Formats: sequence, structure tokens, C-alpha cells
Amino acid sequence: MDDRQQDGPLIELRNIHKIYYLGGEEVRANDDINLTIHRGEFVAIVGKSGSGKSTLMNIIGALDVPTDGEYLLGGEDVGVMSDRQLAHIRNKMIGFIFQQYNLLPKLNLLENVELPLLYAGVGSGERRERAMASLKKVGLEEKWRNMPNQLSGGQQQRVSIARALAGSPSLILADEPTGALDSKTSRDVLNFLKQLNEEGNTIVMITHDNSIAMEARRVVRITDGQINFDGDVKDYAAIIQAGN
Ligand SMILES: Nc1ncnc2c1ncn2[C@@H]1O[C@H](COP(=O)(O)OP(=O)(O)O)[C@@H](O)[C@H]1O
Ligand SMILES: [Mg+2]
Repeated sequence: MDDRQQDGPLIELRNIHKIYYLGGEEVRANDDINLTIHRGEFVAIVGKSGSGKSTLMNIIGALDVPTDGEYLLGGEDVGVMSDRQLAHIRNKMIGFIFQQYNLLPKLNLLENVELPLLYAGVGSGERRERAMASLKKVGLEEKWRNMPNQLSGGQQQRVSIARALAGSPSLILADEPTGALDSKTSRDVLNFLKQLNEEGNTIVMITHDNSIAMEARRVVRITDGQINFDGDVKDYAAIIQAGN
């Protein structure tokens, strides 16, 4: 599937519910989420532990399906897609960045960055070229032969950003991207995400940390599975300062 509907929103979540049943009890992990995100946005989804962020990230990333509600990605209904189509949009449309980098330890940096391109069926020459360009973007092209464990945490996260970028995805989806990093390295990674957004990439970043959410342009706050703030980062800063 390609990104056909260029005019409409990139992400449209309508009345999304995700309910887990745990020992006979109902957990409303996402409880009527409505969210629209356009191309070029940088959105932070912020909330405390257990508020439903990962549940929402899994739905947006087409890693899981909601119990109820509609999800349109690039104008296409994700809810009616086969597993094969879902795998396809995950590979082609979404670049994932995880807290723990998720690099494969037995592959060198270049091979790690090539992986999503391999899954997307890109031929070896082009794969290598695009992966190298992506590593260059994060300033690690000279280390392409290195193994992940030869790098610092911040460098490994940069490799995972390069991997997310390699396929030129429509959406970069980052789950606690600075969660495992010290504050200076976190700053570098956030600045890099901002730069990628300024270059036109759409970024959705999940975090439990208000100060990190403040680096995005739009903040969506989720509490007990529901959105209770959605607006400009400046307005968010104001309500946080007011103690809300
Ligand atoms: N697979 C699951 N089975 C049962 N309950 C779950 C499952 N995944 C998450 N939950 C529950 O759903 C709620 C939201 O979880 P989650 O989305 O992981 O929150 P967050 O990422 O914000 O910490 C929590 O109460 C959590 O315990
Ligand atoms: Mg989580």
C-alpha cells in the first residue's frame, strides 16, 4: 500500500476502545480515543504508567487491533487489513524507535539499518545505499562495521533512528525513545527528532515525562485510557505550570 491520500490526515483514530479482561475484571486500557494527526506534525503522547500509552502505540503502529473503533492510516482502514497487509504497512509506512533500541546483537550497524528494507523487499544494492545514507544522517557512517555492543547507549539509539528512517516512512513512532538515556544524551536524541520533524517527518513520541513531552509541538495527554488534553505545547506548558 502506498501513501495515496496525501491531503487527508495521516492518522485518524475514531472512538478507539481497547479492553483487556484480566481475571474476570475489565481493564479499559483505551477508552474512547479520538485523535487526528496530520503529516508534518510532532506529537507527544504523554501519560503516567498504566494510562494506556503502549496500548495506543500498538494500535497506531498496527501491532495490535482495537476492541472497538476505527483506525485510518493514510486514509485506509487498518481494521479490515489482513495480517499480510498489516505487516506491509508496518514495514513501509512506519519507522519504529523503542526505548531499548532493539538492535540485533549479531548484525553490524549497517545490517541492522538494512533490516526493514530487507523486509520491505528492497534489493541488496539499493538497500546498502539507503542504509548507509541513513547512518550518515545520524553521524555514524564511519562505524558501519561496528557491532551494537561496541557503541554507547546514545549511539545505539541513533542507529535505531537510522533504521527507522531508512525506509522513508510516513510516520516515525517512538516509544520512550530517551527512556534508557542520561539527560545529555536524551537532549541530543530529542534535538535530532526535532530536526527530523523540521525536515518534514511526522513524529509521534510516547513518553511518561512531561519535560520530554514539552519538546514536541503538540501534546496529547492520556489519563486512565482517555485523552484529557490535546493542544499546542505552549498551552500544555501553561497548565502544567498551573499544577494541572
Ligand atoms: N495484555 C494485557 N492484559 C491485561 N491488561 C493489560 C495488558 N496490557 C496492558 N494492560 C493494562 O492496560 C492498562 C494500560 O496499559 P499500558 O497501555 O501498558 O499503559 P502505559 O504504557 O501508559 O504504561 C494498564 O492498566 C495495564 O495493566
Ligand atoms: Mg508503556
